[in-house]
This record gives sequence, C-alpha cells and structure tokens, in this order.
Amino acid sequence: MLSLINRLSWRLQSRHIGGIPRFASKVYDKLATRLITGMYSFIAQEIIDSQLKPNILVDVGCSSVRLFKTLHEMVYSPMFMVGIDISKFMTNIALRNMKRNDLQSFVDIVQADAHNLPIRESSVDLLLSSGTLHHLSDSQTFFKECIRVLKDRGEAWIFELSHDVPKDEEEIGKRMFRRPKVLLKLASALHGIPRLECERGGLRSALEKSRCHYEISYHGFLTKLILRRSYE
Ligand SMILES: C[S@@+](CC[C@H](N)C(=O)[O-])C[C@H]1O[C@@H](n2cnc3c(N)ncnc32)[C@H](O)[C@@H]1O
Repeated sequence: MLSLINRLSWRLQSRHIGGIPRFASKVYDKLATRLITGMYSFIAQEIIDSQLKPNILVDVGCSSVRLFKTLHEMVYSPMFMVGIDISKFMTNIALRNMKRNDLQSFVDIVQADAHNLPIRESSVDLLLSSGTLHHLSDSQTFFKECIRVLKDRGEAWIFELSHDVPKDEEEIGKRMFRRPKVLLKLASALHGIPRLECERGGLRSALEKSRCHYEISYHGFLTKLILRRSYE
C-alpha cells in the first residue's frame, strides 16, 4: 500500500514544474519543517564529523532555509551559503526567514531550476539537497549539474526519505526524528524515494549514467547519496 502511495505521489510531484505552490509553501514552512528538524541536525552533524570544511555551500531545493538556520547554529566554521529553489513562493518565505534569523550577511537566495544551476563550474565545496530529488523530472541531469559545479574535492550530499526501511532499522529512524514510526513511514511514502530505486531502479541507472563516483548509505528513514567527480 505504501509503495503504491509512493509511486503515485512521486510521479505527481516530479511532473509538477514550478516547485511548491503558494498554499503548500506556507504549510511546509509552518508544519513540515518542524516534523523533520531531526534531519537538519543530522546533516549538520555529518558536516561536523566529515573532513570537509566547506567555504561555499549550496542547498538545492532550500525551501524556507530552516537547514541554514541549523547549520549556522551547529557548524562552527565560516561558510557562505546559497539557497536555490524554483518556487517563487518558497524563495519569498526563504528571504523572510533569512532576515528574521539574521542570516543575510552569509546567505543568498536564488530562484532557479536544479536542472540548470546558475552557478559557475568548479566553485562549490559542498552541495546539499534534501527532500528535493523526488520533485525533479530528470535526476541524471541534476546529478551532472552537481558534478559540474563541484570543486575538485567537493561533494554533493543528496538526502531523501525512504519508506522501505527494514524493521530492525526503523528504531534508528525514530531516534533521529523523534517522531512515531507510522508518521515517518507515511511522510516517507508521500515525500520520498524508496531504497529499492537506489539499489536497482531508475535512480541507480541515472547515477551510473552520470559518470560520477557515488556512495549510498542508509540512516533509518533517511537515504544519503554522496556524489564526487570521477577521474577515471
Ligand atoms: C519537500 S521540499 C524540501 C525542502 C528542503 N530541502 C527541506 O529539506 O526542508 C522540496 C523543495 O524543492 C523545490 N523544488 C522543486 N523542484 C525544483 C527544481 N526543479 N529546482 C529547484 N527547486 C525545486 C520545491 O519548491 C521545494 O521547496
């Protein structure tokens, strides 16, 4: 049942060009971002634990910049952060939240499409994208864009919720989000990409075709893709 819901909602969201509409952007800002604060802290902790010390960080599908607020609070290193979102409603909310949280001296917000990033090549240390891949109509083009803008040692970290989590890993997911498992499963089916897609579905073949180095790891309900330039 959850797989069916996932297939339908993924198809609908990836066909909707223009990003989140007005009403949904308000709901997302007020409600959804509160449900997934655990994911923002997880991403911040991953940056702290990594060898990367990003100076230039880009978040594709930044929505209301809640992630930037968490990064600013948790990651103690100077970074310039660029948030990109295709939705004009979301970018308006992002601009408002940026000012409210006093982030404007090190954050820029740009309304643009993930398939055609307005960023020069080899300029980004860390590209993040969470909960956005399932909105995109062409993941291979997006992966290629990620690689194009990354510096030599840069990385792209792409996060998606996945509902097809083995039973014994559900507890990890529950601890990360501090929400009931049933809610996490439903949210992952409505807004996510199953692990199966990364293992042997269309997403796997898009990764292969984009000729980059990639790693896939699972953290409860969260799936993380790491993309790097390939020098082969
Ligand atoms: C579910 S929200 C996730 C937002 C945020 N990264 C988070 O984790 O809270 C997905 C965002 O991607 C944006 N989006 C959808 N299609 C896009 C595209 N082609 N290019 C850039 N942003 C896009 C939507 O407008 C929306 O704000």
